Amino acid sequence: MTSIETVEGDITTCRVDAIVNAANSRLAGGGGVDGAIHRAAGPELPPACRALGGCPTGEARITPGFALPAHWIIHAVGPVWHGGGAGEPELLAACYRTSLALAAEHGARSIAFPAISCGVYGYPVAAACRVSVASIRDWPCAERGIERVLLVAFSAEVSRHWGAALSASRPGL
Ligand code: APR
Repeated sequence: MTSIETVEGDITTCRVDAIVNAANSRLAGGGGVDGAIHRAAGPELPPACRALGGCPTGEARITPGFALPAHWIIHAVGPVWHGGGAGEPELLAACYRTSLALAAEHGARSIAFPAISCGVYGYPVAAACRVSVASIRDWPCAERGIERVLLVAFSAEVSRHWGAALSASRPGL
């Protein structure tokens, strides 16, 4: 059985096998969680990202974690919110699925997610939290060896919405 829980904190400090970055399609680093991860991972990360040659929205790429406690960084590119009619929910769900698949392919047993697209990309938090929890619950985590999923909120608002989404989707409800 895979545990899925939400915590409030800084994802760069998480002691898990893989942390997920909310990246841009150029994998060029930036602000928000992308900036925090690049600062914490150190100078080896930018060239590793450049070597990947970018990443389309809704997909993810993996690099080592370098100076981070996490062994891997999975760079997921979330959708920019344009009102919900441009496939944003499907692209956001795909970010979580492809991140889980990459983590499993690399033998990760624990993974931490930030609230992808909920900052600069403007995705409404409550809707994004529902999409993320549904995507994770629908993915065969236990069968693929992922034992622990952490949803790392950087604000009380995100923490509240992730908590609500987890409670509403608890198995057996
Ligand atoms: N740990 C966990 N979560 C964090 C951290 C952190 N250290 N820093 C920020 N966050 C949260 C934000 O509060 C937000 O809830 O991550 C969520 C995603 O926000 P952004 O980092 O702005 O990411 P996103 O909305 O997906 O926009 C991505 O921003 O930084 C650039 O290069 C990035 O172009 C890309 C865009």
